[in-house]
Amino acid sequence: MKTQIKIAVIGLGYVGLPIAIEFSKHFMVTGFDVNINRIKSLKKYKDDNNEVKINKKILKNNLLNFTYNKNDLLDCNVYIVCVPTPVSKSNKPDLSNIKAACKLISKFIKSNDLIIFESTVYPTTTEGVCLKLLEKGSKIKCITNRYLKKGFYLGYSPERINPGDLKHNLSNTTKLVSSNSSEGLNKIYSLYKKIIKADVIKVNSIQICESAKIIENVQRDVNIALMNEFSKIFRKMNLNINDIIEYASTKWNFIKFYPGLVGGHCIGVDPYYLSHIAKKNKIDPKLIISGRKINDKMYMQVIKRVSNICSNQKINLTKSNVLIMGFAFKENCSDIRNTQVIKIFDYYKKYSKKVEIYDPLIQITKEIKNRINIVKKPKLKHYNIVLVLVPHKKILSLSSKYINKITKSKNIIFDLKNAFKRNYFSL
Ligand SMILES: NC(=O)c1ccc[n+]([C@@H]2O[C@H](COP(=O)([O-])OP(=O)(O)OC[C@H]3O[C@@H](n4cnc5c(N)ncnc54)[C@H](O)[C@@H]3O)[C@@H](O)[C@H]2O)c1
Repeated sequence: MKTQIKIAVIGLGYVGLPIAIEFSKHFMVTGFDVNINRIKSLKKYKDDNNEVKINKKILKNNLLNFTYNKNDLLDCNVYIVCVPTPVSKSNKPDLSNIKAACKLISKFIKSNDLIIFESTVYPTTTEGVCLKLLEKGSKIKCITNRYLKKGFYLGYSPERINPGDLKHNLSNTTKLVSSNSSEGLNKIYSLYKKIIKADVIKVNSIQICESAKIIENVQRDVNIALMNEFSKIFRKMNLNINDIIEYASTKWNFIKFYPGLVGGHCIGVDPYYLSHIAKKNKIDPKLIISGRKINDKMYMQVIKRVSNICSNQKINLTKSNVLIMGFAFKENCSDIRNTQVIKIFDYYKKYSKKVEIYDPLIQITKEIKNRINIVKKPKLKHYNIVLVLVPHKKILSLSSKYINKITKSKNIIFDLKNAFKRNYFSL
């Protein structure tokens, strides 16, 4: 008799929740998270990240169970790990969450179970760190070849979702799957085939698959750093970088990237993961690290540019009310992790009369209220300086009339990415 598939999704954040929901359309799913508040909200059909709609029917029919109770993992036979993989204060990979998840799962896994990692890691983590913890805790071997008849299967399938992106989602994005055994690879392939409408591609090695994921993000970081450097050069020459990019991109092989702030927990973090393994292999990843440094300091370029505009326009910063529009780490997303806007806010908090932030997408929690001056609605005729740093669609829907209403008669409007396309100041 075929065993019934029961999936446990470990970590129900931006990555784990959509996966749990998609799989629950086909299998019984236990969504497990250590954050009790997250589970309480999800049980009330509320995704505080504002990314996913939770269908009441699925929960009511017990196809999807949200829990922080470890014992609910008891009868699961597929485990999908979607926990965060951040960096430490000194920018070293922090694998504590993924290690904790491995230790937890190892208490429950049985022979023939399938353990899949979706978290972004540096190449070698899945087999070098996770597999070892799983084997040690469970006292069961991982099946690495067809001669081993008993054991668990290991897989790696990186998540490629892009929060806030309405076009690319879990099911219409090509999915890479990998395993260290051909049987494991077939199992993980058939599983994801159930929920992915786009191609599911079998990768013949877990390390290749881990590497493919990480270079997607590192490539983005380095390219944005290049654009940030371009913007510095051309600003000095009084030339508009956005115009330059538009014209350059009329050539077929120019790749369009734009300058800007790089925050979040992927693009700004993954280069450190790759650098870590590069250094372990005695390679100095100069370009990757220098790109990271450029992007990390980009907030200073923004501040400098605005200061120059202020002095040209004879606007005195110390007497100015400043409004920052957008606080999330990127547009159309509620995620504020590693947002670079906080650095710009801190500067204006020190040097302007008063600075406020307006972001219609982020959750206004107690911690946020304590850390930044967030307003639900900009004040009328109040601001001398408006900085559009994260152009959410909701912000871009504001008319120029409205912007005029909230600003004082003498004002500066700085639109970092020229997103309004209204002849405001930009980089
Ligand atoms: N968010 C993205 O856009 C994105 C895209 C692709 C890949 N990734 C990668 O996916 C992984 C998860 O990212 P995310 O954005 O979903 O993170 P997240 O912070 O939104 O969610 C992670 C969840 O895991 C929970 N958690 C932490 N440790 C746990 C543990 N030991 N057991 C159970 N739950 C635990 C947290 O409480 C949190 O709810 C990361 O490695 C990230 O780099 C993220």
